[in-house]
Amino acid sequence: MLNCTKICDVSFLEDTHYQTYLKGKSQALWDSGLDWSMASDDLVPEHLKCLAVDIASMSAHVEVLGMQNAAELLAKCEDFSLKIGLGQAVNDEARHAELFAKYALLANGAISDCSKTQELYDNHFDSLSEFDEIFLSHVFLENGALEQFNIFISTFGEDSLIGQIYKGALQDEARHVQMGINYFRQKVQQQSSYRDFLVTHLNTYQSVLHVNESAIRWLSEFSRIDLELLSQRIEKRQASFINKILAEV
Ligand SMILES: [Fe+2]
Ligand SMILES: [Fe+2]
Repeated sequence: MLNCTKICDVSFLEDTHYQTYLKGKSQALWDSGLDWSMASDDLVPEHLKCLAVDIASMSAHVEVLGMQNAAELLAKCEDFSLKIGLGQAVNDEARHAELFAKYALLANGAISDCSKTQELYDNHFDSLSEFDEIFLSHVFLENGALEQFNIFISTFGEDSLIGQIYKGALQDEARHVQMGINYFRQKVQQQSSYRDFLVTHLNTYQSVLHVNESAIRWLSEFSRIDLELLSQRIEKRQASFINKILAEV
């Protein structure tokens, strides 16, 4: 069944989600200039080469899940402009999964097994059924990924192939997060009690959705960013997400 407002009744040209979609359209070919010949000997310090493959492999696992979540949201969504935005997100996540997996294969000959990480998120999303629950978890994780992608780019270097892939993916994810923030802001503006749902959901699933202590330690160790500073950066990113949604217009 088509979950969408009757197409002939749709008027979307001024919609915020459509403006976000248009931004994504102009960036649709960002990966076309990547030089894959760099993969076998990337411009990454020697001692970080294995780590680059492991992190790319982990991202490939998580991006497949992100693609499936976006597809589930797309199928459930009734709003035309948000629906095409989610369709674009499915395509973005497919590209991310492809590029990270391709990097691991070309650099290492194989993708490292990170199915445990994937399972953790998989189990969480299996427990959710409502559109808003899935969308909120999905977009909160994307917001956390923004900080992690920044760390990967600065650690591996902007000129490295892996750094360029994370930079392109970061731009897509920032747009996905903006789309989610716009969606939840509209919901809060329509119904102020809706904020209780947001706060309760994020608190209930904090152990899955927030970057945990061991992940922060791991990020700090390889990036050499001070643990306390890194912890504050991640906390600030997570807090600003909810603050942006709840901020008065
Ligand atoms: Fe992604
Ligand atoms: Fe995304």
